[in-house]
Amino acid sequence: MLRVENLKKYFPVQKSVLEVLLSGRRDFVRAVDGVSFEMKQGEVLSLVGESGCGKTTTGRIIVGLERPTSGKIYFKDREITSLSEEEQRRMKRHIQMVFQDPYASLNPRMKIGEHLVESLTIHGIAENDEAREMAMSMLDRVGLPGEQFFNRMPYQLSGGQRQRVAIARAMILKPDFVVADEPVSMIDVSLRAAILDLLMSFRDEYNLSMLFITHDLSVARIVGDRIAVMYLGKIMEIGKTREVIHNPRHPYTAALLSSVPSFVKKGRKVEIIGDIANPIDIPSGCRYHPRCPFAREKCKKEEPELEGGEHSFACHYPLEGGF
Ligand SMILES: Nc1ncnc2c1ncn2[C@@H]1O[C@H](COP(=O)(O)OP(=O)(O)OP(=O)(O)O)[C@@H](O)[C@H]1O
Ligand code: SF4
Ligand SMILES: [Mg+2]
Repeated sequence: MLRVENLKKYFPVQKSVLEVLLSGRRDFVRAVDGVSFEMKQGEVLSLVGESGCGKTTTGRIIVGLERPTSGKIYFKDREITSLSEEEQRRMKRHIQMVFQDPYASLNPRMKIGEHLVESLTIHGIAENDEAREMAMSMLDRVGLPGEQFFNRMPYQLSGGQRQRVAIARAMILKPDFVVADEPVSMIDVSLRAAILDLLMSFRDEYNLSMLFITHDLSVARIVGDRIAVMYLGKIMEIGKTREVIHNPRHPYTAALLSSVPSFVKKGRKVEIIGDIANPIDIPSGCRYHPRCPFAREKCKKEEPELEGGEHSFACHYPLEGGF
């Protein structure tokens, strides 16, 4: 369904001409710095990692909201990073995004139902009465009875209800691929499970693939068939959810797991040193080495490749023995 090859996104750091002249160089935030992965139809891949590691940027590039600095994305074997505007517009119907902030993702001046009608109209799927009927039934489907909710304004809805509208707006297009960027992190804890269930029910109904972005491994454990762990713009470990959680091979994955008490079964804990490095100045060799308790000389000089097959990890001295 989707293949991402060596994706990079570098954002230039704003500097005055004088600063550039004095330092003799332009600086870049290496937000995404060589990400590769594949996804099958119907599969959910959780993308996890600390704040600022490049999860959202990866998602935004896939849905076409951001152009990559380099790298390729194949959607159903078609390269999509260099499509014309018209082709991109058509592609958008098939690749949708659900955003983190349910308050920012709706137009405050548009009725709830109109968001769905607009989506159908823009993509040439239906208009007028037909679009209205489809919108009503999709609102019913996401637990917001159309009769009651179609004419409401966004401010009249709770955060959880708004996220249901955002999901309805994406799903009414019957996409093949959805990027869900922290879709429950701004929602009251008591409502999270219901929103996740709703998302997963669409996965089952449409057999769609989903890139599920989260910083929360407990959520990743529930939703994802596989987990990819990202650090400073790169994937450090990727594999089946069970494998990654019970047999983490990368010290960073093990450290993330160590911070969740329910994951630490054998009393084994892996430390993490200090804070995330600056993405403008990425450490040499293994970019995780300044924070890794197992770092040796080789780690400072040679960057490890992501290797291994179904369960891959980028580490010169991977952990053994499960977690
Ligand atoms: N438009 C932009 N211009 C400059 N820098 C950006 C831009 N968008 C993102 N960045 C930077 O790129 C890096 C990755 O950001 P990104 O939002 O992808 O991280 P994230 O993993 O989604 O973090 P979070 O968990 O906080 O949402 C950060 O250092 C961020 O400041
Ligand atoms: S390569 Fe070295 S520094 Fe990097 S994670 Fe593995 S042991 Fe730690
Ligand atoms: Mg983000």
